[in-house]
Amino acid sequence: MKVSIVGGGGLVGSCAGFALQAGRIVREIVLLDVNQELAEGQALDILHGAALISDQVVRAGTSDDYKTSDCIVITAGLRRKPDESRLDLINRNVALFRTILGDIKTAGVRKDAIVFVVSNPVDVLTYLAIQELGLPASQVLGLGTVLDTVRLRSMLSARLNVPPTQVGALILGEHGDSMVPVWSAAQIAGLPLDKWPGVTSTLIAEVEKRTRGSGAEVIKKKGGAGFAVGVSIADVIHSIALDQRRVLPVSTLQNGAYDLRDVAISVPTIVGRSGVQGHVEVDLWPKERLALQHSGGVLRETIDKVLKG
Ligand code: 2OP
Repeated sequence: MKVSIVGGGGLVGSCAGFALQAGRIVREIVLLDVNQELAEGQALDILHGAALISDQVVRAGTSDDYKTSDCIVITAGLRRKPDESRLDLINRNVALFRTILGDIKTAGVRKDAIVFVVSNPVDVLTYLAIQELGLPASQVLGLGTVLDTVRLRSMLSARLNVPPTQVGALILGEHGDSMVPVWSAAQIAGLPLDKWPGVTSTLIAEVEKRTRGSGAEVIKKKGGAGFAVGVSIADVIHSIALDQRRVLPVSTLQNGAYDLRDVAISVPTIVGRSGVQGHVEVDLWPKERLALQHSGGVLRETIDKVLKG
C-alpha cells in the first residue's frame, strides 16, 4: 500500500512516516510538504534507518503522487497555542485545508483511495473533506479520538503500574474539549477498572483531567505532539492496509449511531481496506450518551459557521 503524507516535513507527518516504517506493513511512504527541502530531509533521515527495519520505499514526493496513492494522510496545518482550543484553529486552518483539498481534486485520486485527516480541528476538517472531495463518505476518515484513547490507556497504565497494552479504555466524541471518556467500558486485563486495586473516583478524575489536557501539555513542553500521534496514525493505516476491520474511534460522517447525524465525530467504527465499514452502537451510561450528543452539537455549530463563513 502506498501512503502519501501531506505535511510530511512537519513533526506529526514525519513521526507518522517513521511509525509506518517501523510498522513494516505499508510498501511505500511518501512525504509531501510545501517545504520540499524539509520533506526531503525527513524522508532521507527515515530512509537512513531502512537497513535495520525493512525494504519499504521512503521518499519525498509531490502532488503527482496523489493519483497513485492508496491512502492520503493530511497532517498539514498550523498548531494551536497551549491556551487555544482546537476549534480556535478553525479560521487559520480552513483556508489552507481547502487549498490542499483543491490540489488533491485537481491531481485526481484512485477511485478506492482513502483520505485520512489529522489536521485540526480534525472533526470539522474531516466533514469538510467529505463535502469537498467528492469521494464516498466511507473513504474519508479523521484520526478523531484515537490519540485521546491511546493517551488515556497509557496514562492509566502509568498511574496504576500495569502494562499499557492490557488497559482497555475508550474516548468518543470530539477530538477536543467536549471529548467523552467511556468509563462504563474501561477494563484492565479484561477485569472492570473500577474493581481494580487502587482505583478510586479521585484517581479516575485525575487521569481524565490529565488526558484532556495532554495535547496542550505536550505543546507547552515541546511545541507539539509527534510520537504518540504518529503511532496512532500508523495504527489506523494498518487496519486499512491489512483490512483488519478493527473497531477504532476514528472520526467519520454519522448517519444515526447514538442519534448523531450529519456531523463527523468519533464513535466505534469498523475500519478496513475500503475505509469505514460500519459503526458499532453499544449502550453507554445515560450521561455518556448525553455527553456524546452534546459533543455532536458543538461540532455541528462549528461546521455551520465554517460552511457559512
Ligand atoms: C494533539 O492532541 C495534535 O491534536 C493533537 O496533540
